Amino acid sequence: MLDNKRILLIVAGGIAAVKAPDLIRRLRERGAKVRCILTRAGAQFTTPMALGALSGDAVYQELFSLKDESEMGHIRLSREADLIVVAPATADIMTKMATGIADDLATTTLLAADKPILIAPSMNVMMWTHPATQANLATLKAREVRVIGPGAGDLACGEVGDGRIAEVSEIVAAISRYFQGEVDQGPLARYRALVTSGPTHEPIDGVRYIANRSSGKQGHAIAAALSALGADVVLVSGPTQLPDPDGVKVVHIETAAQMLKACKEALPRDIAVCAAAVGDWHVAGAGKKKLKRDRGPPALQLASNPDILATLAKAGGGRPGLVVGFAAETEDVITNGKAKRDAKGCDWIIANDVSAGSGTFGGDNNTVHLITREGVEDWPTLKKSAVAERLAERIAAYVSRHL
Ligand code: C5P
Repeated sequence: MLDNKRILLIVAGGIAAVKAPDLIRRLRERGAKVRCILTRAGAQFTTPMALGALSGDAVYQELFSLKDESEMGHIRLSREADLIVVAPATADIMTKMATGIADDLATTTLLAADKPILIAPSMNVMMWTHPATQANLATLKAREVRVIGPGAGDLACGEVGDGRIAEVSEIVAAISRYFQGEVDQGPLARYRALVTSGPTHEPIDGVRYIANRSSGKQGHAIAAALSALGADVVLVSGPTQLPDPDGVKVVHIETAAQMLKACKEALPRDIAVCAAAVGDWHVAGAGKKKLKRDRGPPALQLASNPDILATLAKAGGGRPGLVVGFAAETEDVITNGKAKRDAKGCDWIIANDVSAGSGTFGGDNNTVHLITREGVEDWPTLKKSAVAERLAERIAAYVSRHL
């Protein structure tokens, strides 16, 4: 996908610099050639050795280094790249870029650059929201510097809010999008989607839990398919064996209560697809200590979990414009699917047969029926990835008309 694309990665001085090795690895896996500049502050968080070993190239650090300049001057560093990526981009380097300060190798190269630049900002929430940083951001955007992230979440400094560097997979996706060209952004480029996937784990005590056999394959495939059509996707996933899909922001949770919280935090969204097999109950009063076997079998008191799909579908003003749920049935698939659509208040139901012989749970194929207000469509048996692609196409067609 990034075959032979030359990326000059500038690693500035923030805690997110520790993610640079992973970013280099993923870019190289996709065929890119990566060369690094590491700032003096960046070298406090990651090492030239790590970047050099993963990039397979020299790591450039000093402006006034006879060795670096004779081998590769700051002008050539930019000339020999197709794209310059600054990750992490600190408040400091953004300020220098915006004002044209060139006082080290990184900033001199950026000022001398004749190549497009993508930055992945990362900093404390107050620094990010400060009018100075926001003004610099506006200046850089006006100069067509591309920006990926930052996202919201726990920050290394202990505070919570915007400023967290985009996930490595999101940075890779932004780089890939750049090389694919803006024109190819996809029909969902303007839309934000939320997908739930996988099982939940409901603790019994500190070591045991109640789970189910959901693999997460269908939900993850839907997140990937929506992202492939250009949507900005948050995937809230219970514990699965699956890798995080590229370009998708994944929030990992364990319990239904955590899933609901993460979904609410992801709002507002245009599209919600609830494919998770959410546990119906949790153990009331589950503690952190392991229950002792010699005390005999415990009488577990179960309590109901929140219905995430129904909550999203009834969310009033914050309701996503299209809410899609699944109905996993073992009999009367369509009748029960229709009833579920009404009961949950969602727009579409994907009804599927999960009876023992169907092989749906954990398998690669799925036979589904799409139930909308207009009627029922029977889809042939398809791979879960193909069900996901077909659903994403249907969603794209719907939102282009209704949202
Ligand atoms: O009620 P039932 O579990 O059959 O409904 C299945 C649909 O509702 C799926 O889309 C599932 O993701 C969603 N659901 C949910 N929260 C629950 C139970 C189910 O989002 N607590």
